[in-house]
Amino acid sequence: MAPNLSLSSTIKLSVILMLAMFSFTTAREIKLPALFFQNDPATRILVAGPRDYRFGTINILDNRITAGKSRFSREIGRVQGANITSSLDGRKAVIEVSIIFTSGKYNGSTLELQGQASPRADVREYAVTGGTGKFRFAVGYAVFETVARDAQYSVDRGDITVRFVENL
Ligand SMILES: *[C@@H]1O[C@H](CO)[C@@H](O)[C@H](O)[C@H]1NC(C)=O
Ligand SMILES: *[C@@H]1O[C@H](CO)[C@@H](O)[C@H](O)[C@H]1NC(C)=O
Repeated sequence: MAPNLSLSSTIKLSVILMLAMFSFTTAREIKLPALFFQNDPATRILVAGPRDYRFGTINILDNRITAGKSRFSREIGRVQGANITSSLDGRKAVIEVSIIFTSGKYNGSTLELQGQASPRADVREYAVTGGTGKFRFAVGYAVFETVARDAQYSVDRGDITVRFVENL
């Protein structure tokens, strides 16, 4: 009988511990304030493939993310990763990037963005596949729209909705 008793008390203890863990975390869904992505030729580099965005062009970027649309707006994060022209006709690109918050209440936390879209489309949607810090267990989506563009430089507005587990 003794081993059975200790097994059942182990199970009870595990259940109590699990309940205690759940009571300290809560799932949340939020839409972040708009982020502005500064697509600056000075903060990206062509690492492989054709220069003019055809199939196989790979750029690595470390772009500023700002609170406002202006390129002189305050930095609140960086977006770092790869932008790959992925369709044979050169019209679609896959991005694989991390957003790293560098100020504000999410300073130090990150979000992972991934997906394929047409850079020329009015609205592009990417998946949020994970996060760290305040965004542990994040899943969600990001909607991008180009709000300023000249020959070399463009600015995208990104609206990100995430579900994540808030650590209390
Ligand atoms: C963001 O966090 C880093 C590392 O903890 C710290 O050095 C930096 O001063 C913080 N930046 C702001 C603007 O709070
Ligand atoms: C990726 O490259 C395309 C050009 O093919 C560009 O229009 C787009 O803004 C870039 N995306 C990012 C996130 O840098």
